[in-house]
Order: sequence, then C-alpha cells, then structure tokens
Amino acid sequence: MNINALYFAVLFLIPYNVTALNILGIFPYHGKSHFIVFKVYLEELAKRGHNVTVISHFPQATPQERYHDISLSGTLKSIENNLPFRKSYITVLQMGLELTTSGKDNCEVLLANKAVQNIVKEKQKFDVMVMEQFNSDCALGIAYKLQVPVVGISSHVLMPWHYNRLGVPSNPSFVSFHFTDGGTRPTLKQKLERFVLDIYFKTIYYYISQRHNQQTLAKYYDDIPPLEDLARDIKFSLLYHNFILTGSRLFPANVIEVGGFHVKEAKPLTGDLLKFVEEAEHGVIYISFGSVVKSSTMPEDKLKAILESMAEMPQRFIWKWEDQTLLMDKNKLYSSTWLPQVDILGHPKILAFLSHAGMGSTTEALYFGVPIVAMPVSGDQPSNAAAIEESGLGIQLQIEDLTKENLIAAFKTVLDSKFRDKVKLLSKAWHDRPMSPMDTAIYWTEYAARYSNLTFRTAAADLPFYEYHNLDVIAICVVLLLSIGYSFKLIIFKLCCSKMKKDKNVSEHVRKSKISKRTKRE
Ligand SMILES: *[C@@H]1O[C@H](CO)[C@@H](O)[C@H](O)[C@H]1NC(C)=O
Ligand SMILES: *[C@@H]1O[C@H](CO)[C@@H](O)[C@H](O)[C@H]1NC(C)=O
Repeated sequence: MNINALYFAVLFLIPYNVTALNILGIFPYHGKSHFIVFKVYLEELAKRGHNVTVISHFPQATPQERYHDISLSGTLKSIENNLPFRKSYITVLQMGLELTTSGKDNCEVLLANKAVQNIVKEKQKFDVMVMEQFNSDCALGIAYKLQVPVVGISSHVLMPWHYNRLGVPSNPSFVSFHFTDGGTRPTLKQKLERFVLDIYFKTIYYYISQRHNQQTLAKYYDDIPPLEDLARDIKFSLLYHNFILTGSRLFPANVIEVGGFHVKEAKPLTGDLLKFVEEAEHGVIYISFGSVVKSSTMPEDKLKAILESMAEMPQRFIWKWEDQTLLMDKNKLYSSTWLPQVDILGHPKILAFLSHAGMGSTTEALYFGVPIVAMPVSGDQPSNAAAIEESGLGIQLQIEDLTKENLIAAFKTVLDSKFRDKVKLLSKAWHDRPMSPMDTAIYWTEYAARYSNLTFRTAAADLPFYEYHNLDVIAICVVLLLSIGYSFKLIIFKLCCSKMKKDKNVSEHVRKSKISKRTKRE
C-alpha cells in the first residue's frame, strides 16, 4: 500500500467504520409504490457502511452487502392495480377502511414472523430503527422491546392521525387535507368536508388499526405502553414533502422534508422509444396514471376524450397503458405496460405530463421541470394536485371535467412558454439546497442514533386537545366576562330600583297629601 492509499484509508474508511450503525428497518405495509421510495434510502444506508436489516414484503432481487432482508412476501394479497378510475366520497370512505384494515393485517403478519420474533427474543442490538409512518404503529412495539430510538419515514404527505402526535397544526383553513381538493385556500364547503373527514379518518384509525395493533402486540408481549404515547417518542419524522411543491408548512424541528431522494439521474432513452421521441417534430406529451390506478379501467367516454384530444394536438404521446390493445397510429402514440418514467421525463423533448399526481411522479416531474396536467384519483393525489396548481408546476383537471375541449385547453396552458419558464424556475429552486434530500434523510437518521437520549419533539405534541386550543383559558375568560356582566346588571338594577322606589314613595306622598288637602277643603 503506498502512502496515498494509506492516506485515503485513514481519511475515509476509518471514520466510516467508527460511525457504522446497526439499523433495523420495519416496513410492514405491502404497497409497492411506497416501498419503491424507501428502498432507495435503505440501500443507500447500506452503501454508506451501515449494517441494515429490513423487514418488508419486498426483499432484494440481487443481494447487497450489509443489507439483510427479513421477508414478509407472499403473506398478503398484492394491492397494485385495483383502484377504480373514479373520484367520489364513497371511494374516500372505502379507502379509509382499506388502509386501516390493512394496518391491522400488516401488524399480525409482522408479529407472526419467526425471524421478527427472534430479533426481540434475542434482544438484538440496534442503534436506530426506521419505520414507515402510514397505516399502523405496530412496529413501535418492537422498538419499545428493543429500546431503540425510532425514525419515522413516509412516502407522501402526513396522514390525518399524524398531526397531533408531531404537534403539527392541522387547521382545515390552511392545511391541505390528504384525501380532498382545496389545497391551502379551501372554500367553506371544502373546509367543512375536511373537518368531517378528518374526524372520520382519525376515528377509524384508532378503532380499526391502532386499538387492534395494541391487542395484537399484547398477545406477544405483555408490557407495551399505549402506541400513541410511543408514537410521540419518535425522534424524527422524514416526510416526502418539499416546500417548493407543498408550500411553507408549520413543522417542528424534528419533522424534516426529504422529498425527492428516490429520483435517479435520467439515463438516455434507447431503441424504439428513443427513435419515437427524437423524431417528434413538436415534442412529446407523456401520460401515466401510476402503478396503483389502472388506465384500462377508465370509462369509455373519458378514454375517447383523451384519444380525440391527442388526435388534435400536434405533439406525439407516450402512454403507460396496461392493455395490450393498440389504441392509435404508431407514429402518434407509443404505449407500453412498463416505461422508464424517469428517463422519459428527463428527455428535453418531453413537454408535459398528464398524471394522476402521485407523490413519486409529481416529484420526478418537478426534478426535471416538466409541467403537469394533474388528474387526481384517490389517496394523497387530490392534495398533491392542489399543490401542483398552487406552486405553478401545473394545473388540475378533475376527472369529471375531462372532455376533449378541456384537455386540449389544459395542455395548451402548460405548453405556453411563460408557464414552462415558471416550471423551470421551480425546478431550479428545488435543486438549489445545502444538502441533497438523500444526505438530509441519512444525516437525521444518524443524528437520531447519536443523540438517542435527547428529545426533539415540540411541547405542542404533549398537550391535550383543550390546552392546545386554549379552551381552558377561553372558558375562564367567558365565565369572567359573564360574571362581570351579571354583576353590572345587578348593580344597575339595584340603583334603578332604589331610585324608582324613592320616586314612587315621593309621588305616593304627593298624591296622599293632595288627597288630604282635597278632603280638608271639602
Ligand atoms: C448486521 O445485521 C445482521 C442481521 O441482522 C446481524 O446478523 C449481524 O450481526 C449484524 N452485524 C453487525 C456487525 O452488527
Ligand atoms: C443514555 O441513557 C442511558 C439510560 O438512561 C444511559 O445508560 C446512557 O449512558 C446514556 N447515554 C448517553 C450518551 O448519555
């Protein structure tokens, strides 16, 4: 080994090993669109020298050094491609039930796993645990048994039941609601809608997921504190947000925006697809409704509207389409069941993106500065779509408004050069930061391990409802005001009365004396 190599070894390898952590990742939810995001982060943790053990439904296809899988795969039915292309209250309510019910199932499957039980039994030593914050708090029970600090991570905006535990305001007047339209400037109707739905979601979360998780944990371990209390001890919450897209939010210091780390550099397109894009004289518009919504469940008239507007636009189109049937002329439309989305969005000829506004796709479009026509269907898509419109990254077109004319008008709006300039500016601002989203996510994960004895949550997270909203203070003020008012009334009444009595006495006296005078005269 020459001196230089030794120097590098000292400089890089030694600090690496000193800080290498033993990390446990628990991802019991079986939605692939979520894990796609976490996988990138977990693999990067292993790449940077940490020893990572991941419990999930998605074990690595090709094993990586220091990345150890505990697979839950095959224990639950896949949930890809089964949402209808429709938007209604019924779907929102139904989704709430599905989410929370799967939160219950995810916990049962997790705790029934022998390898998971062994980790607890052997009291395996971990420096930090990373868990998905979504539809279940079950993994917090394991963290409690192992006495390990927890970092929460999510692949989307906060769920309704996460606000209180983090002390993040969830005021319906300016905080957009995960499942509904309206963004940060809702109408009165939308405020009412989110107020009611918020109660609905929190209630079913508590009754269907959390309470059941607590019971499931109790079957295995007899000393688990209330999950909501454990949830408040989460050291950091890594959110798949970014203020360029979602706007300035009121987050405490332990809630960190890390949105965007899953996006890789675009690779050059190849083959037919490259040819199709390069030969597009007027550029290309890309269409995809993600992996959860199937485009082929689209109603006939909506499909017709999209195809007809394509025919009238000069651009070429690329569409992620699950059916094998060819829809259109090969020179106009390139369709496939799988497409390299990042590489497509990264190509300079891609002018616009018709999207369901999932957080992954939205972030990728922002990364490459491609304007979006957002057509939200379910989940967090309505609030993402509102953020897309408010930030200037694109515009919304609701499914119920999808007609040939409206779609052409929407494409024309986002193809406008001023609109595209604004999107490029947003993208530039998004990239311009002191630390990449991946470095940020990893930094705070390591930080949680280094300072596991410290607490970073805001006092707001510990207050009961009535104190958080100052209902006690307001109640005292109201009582005080009422009693002052009442006392005034009493005093005034007393004063008036005594004066009236006096007046009455005087007039009585006068009358009596008049009468007596009259009788005397007679
Ligand atoms: C790394 O993790 C694996 C799997 O959990 C474990 O068996 C091993 O002991 C760990 N290695 C170190 C150095 O902690
Ligand atoms: C953290 O707290 C534990 C238990 O109270 C204690 O044993 C440990 O020494 C503390 N670590 C540091 C770095 O203060």
